[in-house]
Amino acid sequence: MLILAIESSCDETAASVVKDGRYVLSNIIATQMDEHKLYGGVVPEIASRRHTEAICSVVEEALLKAECTLDDIDAIAVTYAPGLIGALLVGVNFAKGLALAKNKPLVPTHHLRSHIAANYISNPELKPPFMCLVVSGGHSHIVKVDDYTKMTVIGKTRDDAAGEAFDKAARAMGMPYPGGVHLDEIAESGNPNAFSLPHPHVSGSEYDFSFSGLKTAVINLIHNASQKGEQLPVADLSASFRKAVVGCLTDNFIRACEAHNCEKLVIAGGVSANRLLRQELSSICAQKGYELYMPEKALCGDNAAMVGSQGYYEYLSGNTASSELNAYATMSIEL
Ligand code: KG4
Ligand code: ZN
Repeated sequence: MLILAIESSCDETAASVVKDGRYVLSNIIATQMDEHKLYGGVVPEIASRRHTEAICSVVEEALLKAECTLDDIDAIAVTYAPGLIGALLVGVNFAKGLALAKNKPLVPTHHLRSHIAANYISNPELKPPFMCLVVSGGHSHIVKVDDYTKMTVIGKTRDDAAGEAFDKAARAMGMPYPGGVHLDEIAESGNPNAFSLPHPHVSGSEYDFSFSGLKTAVINLIHNASQKGEQLPVADLSASFRKAVVGCLTDNFIRACEAHNCEKLVIAGGVSANRLLRQELSSICAQKGYELYMPEKALCGDNAAMVGSQGYYEYLSGNTASSELNAYATMSIEL
């Protein structure tokens, strides 16, 4: 079964053709990152306009690269939630138009479910059930994935998402948007024990996260130093911050897995590209004899191949939409 998948929830316009949910025939991404960099973050109005300009050629290129035409496509999957509403609407309306014109099934696909599905492409043997740590720019969840389309949230962030915390700390240190990847890179040469940062716990919710205090601690350190005319060692601060965030993520994730007797662990989302997170989980899982699955780095960030994978399983479970499909800025991963 061939799925044409479309993704436009944030600042990447992406289209892909995926066979049977697992084999990527094409994966085209047009990123707007350089433009948003000028403003230090994604400007929603600009994002919508750039999606509108890019979407036709991105979809055409995805079909061309996959050596097929719309007539060969069996269904059209599209990200409809969560994300920037104006950005999502561009993809949703484009997909609706194609589905209507070509009389193809339309499959509404949840962005975070798609991040999880990136793992089905990178790890062909992976099947639910498993426990997944979903860490992106907008969300940090621990999700029990019982089946491809059946999942339960075990823990989530109470304030900033992990990616957002990385980006804000990086910005305070003068790194360009999105700073997470730069902070990760610079942290490699720093001392992770140079600064002592808090290890926040959410009382009463043992698997929830809170990153805003950590971010504020870093911002305060920088302000205090600059008031004294001093500059903090960026590599050491990056390494200490990364260690603190990764410590919170891995602690809660491992405890949640133990409490649910789950020995199959998966990570997903933009922050799953983080080197320390990958290293720490790899060594914990090796020690405990757990299985660990991660998406290849190219599929950690936003792309449409993951939408084609999740869209396949949504289609199989009977999840299709009419041309009245709308987009939603927020939506639980449980649906
Ligand atoms: O999943 P994603 O591409 O988009 C959303 O759905 O939000 O995640 C983007 C987030 C950004 O905050 C970015 O800084 C972060 O993932 N990120 C990283 C790394 N690569 C991307 N954070 C830490 N370390 C990285 N290597
Ligand atoms: Zn994403």
